[in-house]
Amino acid sequence: MNTKINFCGVEFKNPIVTASGTFGFGAEYGQYADISEYGGFSAKGLTRQGREGNPPPRIAETPSGILNSVGLQNPGVEVFANYIMPELAKLDTHVIANMSGNTVEEYLEMAEILSNTDTAIIEMNISCPNVKQGGLAFGTDPATVEHLTSEVKKHCSKPLVVKLSPNVTSITDIAKAAESGGADGLSLINTLLGMVIDVESRKPILANNMGGLSGPCVRPVAIRMVHQVANAVKLPIIGMGGVMNGRDVIEFMLAGASLVALGTGLFVNPKMIYEVKDYISDYMIRHNIDDINDIIGKVELN
Ligand SMILES: Cc1cc2nc3c(=O)[nH]c(=O)nc-3n(C[C@H](O)[C@H](O)[C@H](O)COP(=O)(O)O)c2cc1C
Repeated sequence: MNTKINFCGVEFKNPIVTASGTFGFGAEYGQYADISEYGGFSAKGLTRQGREGNPPPRIAETPSGILNSVGLQNPGVEVFANYIMPELAKLDTHVIANMSGNTVEEYLEMAEILSNTDTAIIEMNISCPNVKQGGLAFGTDPATVEHLTSEVKKHCSKPLVVKLSPNVTSITDIAKAAESGGADGLSLINTLLGMVIDVESRKPILANNMGGLSGPCVRPVAIRMVHQVANAVKLPIIGMGGVMNGRDVIEFMLAGASLVALGTGLFVNPKMIYEVKDYISDYMIRHNIDDINDIIGKVELN
């Protein structure tokens, strides 16, 4: 049985990766599961300068999910490039470096720095406020996405995956804009903007008032968006949003994802990778599938 996936010219030994921000820089999960079991992992979102993140509380539980406003706490792209990535390069798995910027210039500088590391892929998070354009997230406007992607491509020698925000009216317009800008692949979905209020104190639970919703509650939205995007562009997709087990991974692949990321589900079951891999093998045997690539996008619509 073949479970290898060629994604943007990089061979992944299996389709399972992790979602940025839910797996730290890998070491945090080492005691639960061997990181080399994954095809790759997306590291915590990096910014040009290190960030302390938002004040607590940063996480609120919701029905079937969580709301977070961590605020991109990270040591900064240079610490990652000089000290963290050289250690991660020793692992038998691919590293996807995830970057977030507040200006086009920040993205360009980060793309250059990360291009000089052993990271396999650069994932560009565009769910960040564009501070020079009134703070609206880069990922909500097609023209901005196309411009940002084409500028970053000029400074990026690694495959560039654009990570889409679901907080938009038309996800396919944004996906097409990233494709026109020269993206090599797409990942989706990032978190859905949400809010939880404590009715006794009348105050929002999160110190930042609002945050990003993730976990199984978002999965049907993510599946719908992956399906729509897969049919709108030719780019390969990393699918994510609420994966809790191997069944969910297959669902994302049928919708059109080539790789699938485990995220919030790892907080519930940090050893999920083992169950996921067993499920995929069993599914392939039950359905007589020799090559996992054969199920990508193969949902049969009613
Ligand atoms: C605590 C937390 C931190 C996150 N940090 C990042 C980040 O730094 N960069 C990014 O692109 N996405 C980040 N995300 C979004 C996830 O990578 C993923 O897109 C989203 O949570 C949906 O997948 P899930 O439901 O499986 O978690 C974060 C999510 C969570 C829950």
